[in-house]
Order: sequence, then C-alpha cells, then structure tokens
Amino acid sequence: MFQKNVETILNRQVEREMFSSNLYLSMASWSEQNGFDGISKWLYAQADEERLHLLKIVGYINERGGKAIIPAVEAPAVEFENPKMMFAKVLTHEEFISNSINEIVAVCFVEKDFTTYQWIQWFVSEQIQEEKSVRTILDKLNLIGENNLYVFDRDIFALRTAAETATA
Ligand code: FEO
Repeated sequence: MFQKNVETILNRQVEREMFSSNLYLSMASWSEQNGFDGISKWLYAQADEERLHLLKIVGYINERGGKAIIPAVEAPAVEFENPKMMFAKVLTHEEFISNSINEIVAVCFVEKDFTTYQWIQWFVSEQIQEEKSVRTILDKLNLIGENNLYVFDRDIFALRTAAETATA
C-alpha cells in the first residue's frame, strides 16, 4: 500500500524538480543573453534533465495508485552576477536537492515503504553525480579566473559529454 506521507513528500519533490528545471532554464537564458553560448547549452541540457526527473516522480506516484500534483512554482531569479557566482548557486541548489532526496529516504524508512526506498536510490546516485559535475565546473572556474572565460565557455559542454560517457 502507498502511504500518504510518502505520496506527500514525493509530490514535494515534483515541485522542487520543477523549480530546478526553471532555475536552470533561467540561468541558460541569462547566459545566452550575455554571450556565454557554451554555458547556456550546458544549462539548457540540465534544465531538460531536471524535467525528466520530475516526470519520473510523477509517473511513479501515479503507478503506485497515488495522485501526482502538478504545482505552481516560485519564479526563479533572472539576473546573475557572473558564471562563477551562478555555478556556486547551482551547487548550493543541488546540495539542497540532495538533502531533500535524503528526507524522502528517511520517510520511506519510517513508513516501511521499501519499494519506494529502493526506487529512490536512483536519485541518491544521480545527486552524487550532479554535485560532482558542478564541483568540477567550479574548480575549473577557480583555476582559470575571470580572464579565460572564452575558453571555458567553448569547452564546458565537453565536460557534460565526458560525464555522460563515464556513467553510461
Ligand atoms: Fe533533479 Fe539536480 O536534481
């Protein structure tokens, strides 16, 4: 049986994944407006990935006989100081999402819903990868400084391709 508390916290995650997708879409758009085409491509792809996460949760709630709720979400920021500050925000947000996933794991334990506990492990692993890839980007931004953003922008998408190949 699908417990109400599990359904509720999964619906909370639908809202958070939707906000993540919109946040990265907003960052992608800002990057495009400011001439960072590579960064914007990376963020558009990330926004798509977050949408896939929310679709995965919606599908799971409904499959278990629950009711997925498609929420209104808070509007994301539209202005960002520079790429480094922007990716620092991405990391903070992903750490928040990792905590949020851990809270789902905890509710599954309390409710003894070991089916959802097992299902949510995919998100636990995904968060490790997402945090790692953003930390790699921030490390590179720290190394190159403000003067070599052109090269960083040209090469950032290759980092995504490399990470996807490594986890395929
Ligand atoms: Fe779907 Fe990056 O959390």
